[in-house]
Amino acid sequence: MSKVHQYMSRLQWKLVVIFLLLTIASVQLIGVFIIRILEERYNDDFIKDLEIQAQSIEVPLQTILSNNHAKDDNRTVTEESKEVDALLKKLTISKDMQIQVLNENGIVLGTTSSSKNQIIGTKNVYANLYNTSSKTIRRDPNTNVDYQIYTRPIKNHNGDLIAVVYIEASLQPVYTKISIITKQLIAIAALVLVSSAFLIVLLARTITSPLEEITKKTTEMATGNFDIQVKVYSQDEIGKLATAFNNLSSDLQKALSQKEEEKEKLESVVANMSDGVIATDRNGQIIVKNRWAEKILNRPIQLGDSIEKVLPISDPPLLPLNTKRQTFLALDSEDNEENTIVKVTFTPIKPQGQEEMVSLITILQDVTEEEKLDRQRKDFVANVSHELRTPLTTIKSYLESLEDGAIHEPELAMRFLKVARQESDRMTRLIHDLLQLSRLDAKQTRFIKKAITLSTMLEDVVDRFSMQCKQKKIDLSLQISSHLPHVYVDRDKIDQVLDNLLSNAVKFTPEGGKIVVSAKRQKNGMVKVSVADTGIGIPKKDLSRIFERFYRVDKARSRSMGGTGLGLAIAQEIVRYHEGEIWITSEYQKGTKVSFTLPPCEPEVTG
Ligand SMILES: Nc1ncnc2c1ncn2[C@@H]1O[C@H](COP(=O)(O)OP(=O)(O)O)[C@@H](O)[C@H]1O
Ligand SMILES: [Mg+2]
Repeated sequence: MSKVHQYMSRLQWKLVVIFLLLTIASVQLIGVFIIRILEERYNDDFIKDLEIQAQSIEVPLQTILSNNHAKDDNRTVTEESKEVDALLKKLTISKDMQIQVLNENGIVLGTTSSSKNQIIGTKNVYANLYNTSSKTIRRDPNTNVDYQIYTRPIKNHNGDLIAVVYIEASLQPVYTKISIITKQLIAIAALVLVSSAFLIVLLARTITSPLEEITKKTTEMATGNFDIQVKVYSQDEIGKLATAFNNLSSDLQKALSQKEEEKEKLESVVANMSDGVIATDRNGQIIVKNRWAEKILNRPIQLGDSIEKVLPISDPPLLPLNTKRQTFLALDSEDNEENTIVKVTFTPIKPQGQEEMVSLITILQDVTEEEKLDRQRKDFVANVSHELRTPLTTIKSYLESLEDGAIHEPELAMRFLKVARQESDRMTRLIHDLLQLSRLDAKQTRFIKKAITLSTMLEDVVDRFSMQCKQKKIDLSLQISSHLPHVYVDRDKIDQVLDNLLSNAVKFTPEGGKIVVSAKRQKNGMVKVSVADTGIGIPKKDLSRIFERFYRVDKARSRSMGGTGLGLAIAQEIVRYHEGEIWITSEYQKGTKVSFTLPPCEPEVTG
């Protein structure tokens, strides 16, 4: 700001100095001119006075001197001088003036000077004894005073020079007058200078102060404030500048607010995208990011950071990037043992007709779920093939053994045939389960829901398994809370779920264990059914995947017990079709509890 002031006052000072110099020069010129004229005028007047003085004694002198010449040629200088002196005495002259009368040889005949005795009879060296009158100036070397000298020749009627009137007068009075006038002129000039300086400063101010204001406002505008107008004082060039400035600032403000609006729109689009977005400049420094990007990467992102620092990938994009590139990123997630899989897409942005990118857009997509589903699908196909081939291989090898002669040993043949039948049973079960799952997936399964008394259903299930449990010395019990509502379910399907849960419990609970089937109403109205056992339990790492198709903690063991690994997956589908939930809690080596919820029967359905 102070710089601006300095600059403005400098312009002001320049104007003032230029105008003042001009004024001084013109005042000086005029002054010199006036003084010259005055000097001439005074000198002329002064000489005229001397001339008049000389003229006044011309006639008497002619008379005196020509009479004397006529009477007696031998008259002495002293005689002439006496008469001249008498004439001169009659004159009244100022003390600064001296009149001398000289004879034709320059000898002083008479003088008005007080020291006449020393002068009379001497030769006047300053006078010009010519036929015409003359005016010269002499400086007295002793007093340094200038004297105006005027000489006038006196001639008789024959035209002969008979005398010279010599008048000298100090020029001091003239000089004094002129110096007084000069002083007055200087005073006037000074007054003119001061007043014009004042006016010039005023003028300069009227030019510079609007400029100063505009400069100040422009500087303010540069800081980003566009809501600025300057006052328009006049319609001249400066006024036009001010108007142009005002138009500029309002146009800029309009354009800026439009841009701001666009930017806000874009920002809200970016902010509300369900993908993470990071944009960088051509050097890889982040200029835009959204909340999702931070959430996916699970770290704060600062604008200005480099993309390489933010993205933990081993092969960061080499900038400038030419074509779109995709890569995957595995991030540790806190709550889950599984990694978060992020698909990272780099897209270089090139302005039309340009080869080089100006910015890089990075899109981050959390594809953990998709990846998981994809993996499960692939696993499923592999699993199905494997599960079908195992029994087939077994059957084939037993049949070959029979072919090779075992058929002739009835006991062995019977055993082989039994195994082959068991294996084909397993294949049938497997195919049955697969078909059921695929029908559930394709939503082709029909559910015939009815109001069912849950306690009866549970009692029936417990009855079905009591025999098995007795054999395995497992204590199977039922705990049903009172006031249990009816449930609105497809009984066959829920029976299937219960059968699977109980068969698992029996399968994985060693002799002497305990199984409890319980049912109670939850706070949200749903009825919760649980099957808890004191069996081998499930290790923590397997718990999250236990509902996946074919997922089994111990494949060999499960298979040997006739399991397909599809039971829990089917149970989950069925429970979900009833808008219920199924979950499992387990402690390895201690026991497992599988619970699921069922919808209660609404009053109008029970009728
Ligand atoms: N009550 C349980 N106790 C211990 N492990 C269990 C229990 N229930 C299920 N599991 C584990 O879950 C796996 C999947 O069960 P499931 O889908 O019913 O398949 P399957 O019974 O055919 O093996 C089982 O192989 C077993 O490892
Ligand atoms: Mg099972």
